[in-house]
Amino acid sequence: MAIRFCNSGTDQHKRQENAFRVKLMGFCKSWYYIILVMFSLSLSSFARGSNDYDLDSLNAFIHDYANKSLGNPRTGILYNIFLPANFSGMEVSAIRLRSGQFWATGRKKISLFQFPPKIRPTPYAKRIAILCQNFGNWSSYYYNVPGYRLVAPVVGFVAYDSSNSSTLGNLKVNFSVMGNPISVHFSHDIVLGGKDLTPKCVKFGADGSFTLQDMNESYVCVSRSAGHFSVVVPKKHDQRILKFWVLGFGLGFVVLVLGGLVLAAIFRLLRRRKIMKMEQQTERGVAFDTFWIGGSKLPSASMIRTQPALENEYVP
Ligand SMILES: *[C@@H]1O[C@H](CO)[C@@H](O)[C@H](O)[C@H]1NC(C)=O
Ligand SMILES: *[C@@H]1O[C@H](CO)[C@@H](O)[C@H](O)[C@H]1NC(C)=O
Ligand SMILES: *[C@@H]1O[C@H](CO)[C@@H](O)[C@H](O)[C@H]1NC(C)=O
Ligand SMILES: *[C@@H]1O[C@H](CO)[C@@H](O)[C@H](O)[C@H]1NC(C)=O
Repeated sequence: MAIRFCNSGTDQHKRQENAFRVKLMGFCKSWYYIILVMFSLSLSSFARGSNDYDLDSLNAFIHDYANKSLGNPRTGILYNIFLPANFSGMEVSAIRLRSGQFWATGRKKISLFQFPPKIRPTPYAKRIAILCQNFGNWSSYYYNVPGYRLVAPVVGFVAYDSSNSSTLGNLKVNFSVMGNPISVHFSHDIVLGGKDLTPKCVKFGADGSFTLQDMNESYVCVSRSAGHFSVVVPKKHDQRILKFWVLGFGLGFVVLVLGGLVLAAIFRLLRRRKIMKMEQQTERGVAFDTFWIGGSKLPSASMIRTQPALENEYVP
C-alpha cells in the first residue's frame, strides 16, 4: 500500500519534474533563438551592401529592359533608355554598330567612352550592341573599394553580339583592342574632398574584383577591355572606422557572454528554489510517513522527492 503510494507519487513527481524541465528547456530555447536572431541581425548589418544590392540581378534587369525598350534601333544611333522611376539616378544608353565600321573609325563619344579604331569583338560578330551604364548616385550601393572612397559615379559598358537580333542580343562579347586603349572621360567637376588627395582610376571586373591605376591624364581612365570604371581617393578615416567596428564587436560579444552567464545563474537559482520547495514538502511529508524508515536525512533531493505524493488523492 505504502509502496503503491510511493510509486504513484514518484510518477506524479516525475511528471512535475518533467513539466518543469520542459518549461526550462523552452525558456532556454527561446532565449537561444533570440540571441541567435540578434547575432545574425548584427552580422547581416555588417555584411550589408553585398546582399541588398545585387549587381548580377541589376545587370540582368537592365539588359532585359533595354532590349525590350529598344523597339527597332537604327544602326549607329545612341539611344537613351529610360529606366523605371525606382531606378531614378541611373543612366543607361545603347547603340548598335557594324563591326567593320567600328574597326575602321572607332567611335568618338558613346556616353563617357571613347573607342579608338582597331577594336574587334571576340568572338567575332558582324554587328555589335554596346550598352552603357552610369550608376550615378547608386554607385556606392553596388561598388566599393576597401580603403578608398568613390568620388565619381561608376560608369561601364558591356558589348553584345547583335548579329541575329534586331535589338541588343544575348551573347556577351569581349573586345580585342589592337590600337590605342578605350578611354573613359570623367567630368572635371569631381570633388576630391581634400587638397593632398591623389585620385586614381579603378576598374571593376564582372565578378566585383577591382584594379587600381594611376591617371595619366586628369580624370581620364584607360582600358583594353569592357568593364566598369570610376575614380577613387584614399579614405582618411578608414582606420578609425575599423577600430570602431572592432570595438563594437568586442563589446557586443562581451555583453552576449555576460547575458548568457546571468541567464545561467537565474536558471540555477530557479532550480535550486524548486528543489528547496520539494525538500520542504518532503520534510512535512516525512512526519506522518510510516514507510519512510527513520525519516533519516537523505543526501540527495532526488531521493526525497518521492514523498509529497502522500497528499495525492489518487488511491488505487
Ligand atoms: C530582346 O528583344 C527581342 C525583340 O523584342 C526578343 O525577341 C528577344 O527575346 C529579347 N531578348 C531578351 C534577352 O530579352
Ligand atoms: C538618386 O537620386 C534620385 C533623384 O535624382 C532619387 O530619386 C533616388 O532615390 C536617388 N537614389 C539613391 C539610391 O539615393
Ligand atoms: C546567329 O545565327 C547563325 C546562323 O543562324 C548562328 O550560326 C550563330 O551562332 C548565331 N549567333 C548568335 C550569337 O546567336
Ligand atoms: C577580355 O579581354 C581581355 C584582354 O583582351 C582579357 O584580359 C579579359 O580577361 C577578357 N575578358 C573576358 C570576360 O573574357
